[in-house]
Amino acid sequence: MSVSVLVGSQWGDEGKGKIVDILSDRYDIVARYQGGANAGHTIVIGDTEYILHLIPSGILREGRECVIGNGVVIDPNALLDEIKFLEEHGINIEGRLFISQNAHLIMPYHKILDSIRESGDNKIGTTGRGIGPCYIDKYDRKGIRIVDLLNKKILEEKIRANLEEKNNIIKKLYDKEELDVDAIVKEYLAFDEAIDQYITDVPSYLDAAIRDGKSVLMEGAQGALLDVDHGTYPYVTSSHPTSGGACTGVGIPPTQVTSVIGIVKAYVTRVGLGPFPTELHGEKGEQLRQWGHEFGATTGRPRRCGWFDTFLLNYSRMINGISKVAITKLDVLSNLDEIKVCIGYELNGKRLHSFPTSVDILDKVKPIYETLPGWKTDITEIRNYYDLPAETKNYLGFISEKSGFEISIISVGPKRSQTIEL
Ligand code: IMP
Repeated sequence: MSVSVLVGSQWGDEGKGKIVDILSDRYDIVARYQGGANAGHTIVIGDTEYILHLIPSGILREGRECVIGNGVVIDPNALLDEIKFLEEHGINIEGRLFISQNAHLIMPYHKILDSIRESGDNKIGTTGRGIGPCYIDKYDRKGIRIVDLLNKKILEEKIRANLEEKNNIIKKLYDKEELDVDAIVKEYLAFDEAIDQYITDVPSYLDAAIRDGKSVLMEGAQGALLDVDHGTYPYVTSSHPTSGGACTGVGIPPTQVTSVIGIVKAYVTRVGLGPFPTELHGEKGEQLRQWGHEFGATTGRPRRCGWFDTFLLNYSRMINGISKVAITKLDVLSNLDEIKVCIGYELNGKRLHSFPTSVDILDKVKPIYETLPGWKTDITEIRNYYDLPAETKNYLGFISEKSGFEISIISVGPKRSQTIEL
């Protein structure tokens, strides 16, 4: 029996979709624990590319059960689109999808408030999916949860109370059209009908499954450095992608967790604003972006690209408790003559001993690099670690030693088959 947590170890977009798909072969249940449709997990099976935003990618493996936990914020339209997309591709989700009754719902006003905030001076570069405003309401105890859909009267009262406040901002401050209670109630009740069969008391379901000897993979979205507590605040998402968020996000107690698996990209990317010490500007960054197809799966925005950062990864390993990692997109580095790896930061000529999470400091640090030789060989058809070029093995050995983790999976392309296991 194993209960594992899978975390993105950098700033998101590490390639979690493919790795969850591979790992879900070994787990009975995959449970998503935070975030919402701001995530975009890409999985390539045969010639088909699947992009999932809310439903765990384990749904693509026959017989696996998938959970959307209470920590996730659900956009009804995104979820319905995704269910439809899966059905159109012949994937049966009946009896395999379980949605927490305690998950909060993204409401139309959350998206409007997200876009209003992003048009102002304190821009974060969000995905515009209403994520921050929804989590604000959750913690302000004003949120609308799936369970509220069961009682029309309560739903109506809650939405009315929210709209009294939100319409004030939307109309009076920003002169945008007010939202109508009845229209929202109607839309959300129709949503309830469509997802009724999936609504579940998730902690009880998972508890029974674990007692039955089933294994669970808890899947995070985004990445550790976007965690609202441990990330590069305020340039973060509004939830807890770190492994600590997994237990609260699905209702499995920490005493059940047996391992934490980190997903790391062979270089670093970031979307949106915020510090990024090893960012490559100019031609080198553009090359990595093109080679790695580094454009957001959700928003299509170009991702910022940079060198692998072992100082950042050491921090991520520490806060997440990562022992083993899956490294993705190693093939993207194959064209480079030399590859730089950051092994520490300097501030005003002094070497830092711990990763700074203050944006002010991160903006000023100077990365210390070591340069390793590139391998200049196509590695996309290699399936055995020992067949990798010596320079590739040297790169992997160097980053794993400096970051303090063990590599157990290497991805050399987007397909399931383009995977090396150690
Ligand atoms: P939000 O989650 O839409 O509020 O955006 C907050 C920050 O997190 C922005 O910098 C986004 O670009 C980033 N972000 C949100 N979701 C993802 C993701 O799935 N991958 C990478 N970055 C993300």
